[in-house]
Amino acid sequence: MKKIGIIGAMAGEVAHFKELMEAVQVRGKAGMDFFMGRLVGQDVVVVQSGIGKVNAAVCTQILIDDFQVDTVINSGIAGSLCNRIHIGDVVIATDTVQHDVDASGSGDKEDVPGQIPGLDTFSFPADVYLRELATKACQEVNAEIQVFQGRIVSGDQFIADAKHKAWMIDEFAALCTEMEGAAVGQVAYLNRIPYVVIRVISDQADGSAHVDFPTFAKQAMEHSVKLVVRLMERL
Ligand code: ADE
Repeated sequence: MKKIGIIGAMAGEVAHFKELMEAVQVRGKAGMDFFMGRLVGQDVVVVQSGIGKVNAAVCTQILIDDFQVDTVINSGIAGSLCNRIHIGDVVIATDTVQHDVDASGSGDKEDVPGQIPGLDTFSFPADVYLRELATKACQEVNAEIQVFQGRIVSGDQFIADAKHKAWMIDEFAALCTEMEGAAVGQVAYLNRIPYVVIRVISDQADGSAHVDFPTFAKQAMEHSVKLVVRLMERL
């Protein structure tokens, strides 16, 4: 039987999962609480990683090593990098890239922005089965909400600047930006386990993000939880 790790960066992203879980046991490690139990009949470990790539990477490796999860789902919110993708829409990762990695100054022409030097891949492909299932789950939960599959970029920066946004669109052709998914992706890749990132858009990652993020984040997080629960029912 599968054991699924569910990672959310913020308290609001994991609180709802905890409410829906049964037979919960808690174990702490590295400043994170790992909630083990059952969610819609599946064995799960739910954890709030904290914000950023290092937290997400540490969290994912602990889930694999200490809790023996064989699948990882990262759910949460993101800023849109595409004018067709609006607040409340959903993006499922086809692959993830770390937009703040840049070794291009090294002179090695392979080291383009986003490329982690020495790694045999530029991006971290999400599991095809999981992303198809996640897309179906979105359509079932609310057929009116747009769902997109595409690249998600992550970095240790909250993007709230139109120029930065334009650069990221140009450089990475990504659909949205957040702060953890590609770190989860890298750890999943290194450990050869399937993963997917599901994000609900909370802002446009430009000058309006300071206003939109606090207004829409909570709602977006709640929707993201609903999507993951439906995905779990279908797994
Ligand atoms: N998460 C939600 N919105 C974001 C943004 N604009 N930048 C980075 N992470 C985010």
